[in-house]
Amino acid sequence: MPVRGLLKISCQAQNQIFSICGSDELCTERQTLFETAGHGQRRQSGEAGRYSEFILLVHRNRVLFQRTGGKGLNITVPHKTEVTKLVDKISDRAATAGAVNTLSFRGGEVHGDNTDGIGLLRDLDVNLGVTIEGANILILGAGGATRGIVGPLLEMQPASLWIANRTLGKAQILADHFSKTGPVSACRFNVVPVSTKYDLIINATSAGVHGEAPPYPSAAVSSSTFCYDLSYGLKPTPFCTWARESGAAHSVMGWGMLVEQAAESFNIWRGIRPDTAPVLKQMVIAA
Ligand code: ATR
Repeated sequence: MPVRGLLKISCQAQNQIFSICGSDELCTERQTLFETAGHGQRRQSGEAGRYSEFILLVHRNRVLFQRTGGKGLNITVPHKTEVTKLVDKISDRAATAGAVNTLSFRGGEVHGDNTDGIGLLRDLDVNLGVTIEGANILILGAGGATRGIVGPLLEMQPASLWIANRTLGKAQILADHFSKTGPVSACRFNVVPVSTKYDLIINATSAGVHGEAPPYPSAAVSSSTFCYDLSYGLKPTPFCTWARESGAAHSVMGWGMLVEQAAESFNIWRGIRPDTAPVLKQMVIAA
């Protein structure tokens, strides 16, 4: 089954093409980012590449993509779940997440992987100094983004992890799915237990993307809470604004996760992990 409506950006280097597939809105946003930050990254990885637009229907045009030098591509919203059905091989972490964000073409086969979880962990741990071990964590939202990060977070042994969602059933399915990995529970937004002091609140809803402001639980935020939005933008996201107004210690958008997951994908394709620090520095300036 083809994944439709993909118009993307490729990095063409040494006749190898890497691309991004997702909604036009997100890919345009990323193009701006990569044009700002990409030059330094490509130089750092020893490649003189260029970015150009690329049109792709994953299944139907796969051979064409490979013939033109296509080696791999990133998949983003809203195709990550659908693409799991198109791959010949899937990594354990992508299978657990039920979502693929990285495709590689190897020996006529399509391999699917997911670098979102590791990207988030690296941003939290290495870039932002947030300790997950022993932390009380609250995730808002129970869609594909949450599914990709719950497993990696639980493996870092938090004290507790609550998934709060508008639709309780979806949060409960995720909590049941990951219950063997660690202490995970589900609830609605309006019954988030506030006797717990949350060290980390992660927004994984897509509400902000649609300009909506759900009734996030302000009582869950304290002056020691680190709030992290998986979404990002050139202006503070509605969640980040809410977090700051609710008294959070920090409120950060997911630019760092975006860069870190991209670096992990690059490593899968090229066997080189670009140094993300200069990219992040440039992005702070750009934002
Ligand atoms: P993604 O892959 O980005 O996670 P998704 O799978 O469609 O996208 O999930 C979107 C998440 O944002 C869901 O948890 C959704 O809540 P429901 O499960 O109740 O639909 C949440 N979401 C989106 N808009 C929302 C809104 N206005 N208020 C509250 N939650 C919202």
